[in-house]
Amino acid sequence: MINVALPKGRLGEKVYGMFAAAGYECPSILENNRRLIFENPETGVRYFWVKPSDVAIYVERGAADVGVAGKDILLEYRPDVYELLDLNIGRCRMAVAAKVGFHDDTEKTLRVATKFTRIAREYYAGLGRDIDIIHLNGSIELAPILGLSDVIVDIVETGKTLLENNLEPVETIVPISARLIANKASFKFNSGRIEAIAEGLKGQIKYD
Ligand code: PRP
Repeated sequence: MINVALPKGRLGEKVYGMFAAAGYECPSILENNRRLIFENPETGVRYFWVKPSDVAIYVERGAADVGVAGKDILLEYRPDVYELLDLNIGRCRMAVAAKVGFHDDTEKTLRVATKFTRIAREYYAGLGRDIDIIHLNGSIELAPILGLSDVIVDIVETGKTLLENNLEPVETIVPISARLIANKASFKFNSGRIEAIAEGLKGQIKYD
């Protein structure tokens, strides 16, 4: 069995659609229930649903042979895995955003609220800018509104969340999309099967 960690949620459903179209179907996964593990002995694949930000942990530690994780998670946590393929779904960007009309006073330390502290640190280190990181776990957009931070570093997809909170994107740090990742040891011992999965998924990627 090849163990596949899928990110729970809308992205995961798209990912499963790509696996299924590539020949790795597992019809029971579409049943409306709360089970987390599904397997199809015919295709030799076992899927499990995990929290999107946990996929890389399962793969790094070998609980999953392959998985699909956002580039944001890979950049932030640097798991020791192989990144095999950009699936070109779950596309968004990591951006700096601030209150509409915000002016950066470069004389002052910039207060940056984010869930992605490593990405933010590296970005501002590259600019040689002094920052004070405020690590939050969610609703990051609140920070500049309440004066907790000057800017935020967060994921922007449609831009709707920023707009509705009177914030605007200031700078794009990096484009993000979903990636197929593999456990290093599994890739060595199951290279044929894992490469076949990657090849199959490659055929399902939609480019615009
Ligand atoms: C992300 C991000 C923003 C939102 C941006 O949150 O933190 O809040 O999406 O999307 P938009 O530009 O289309 O409005 P996500 O839904 O990933 O959940 P989170 O609250 O767990 O970060």
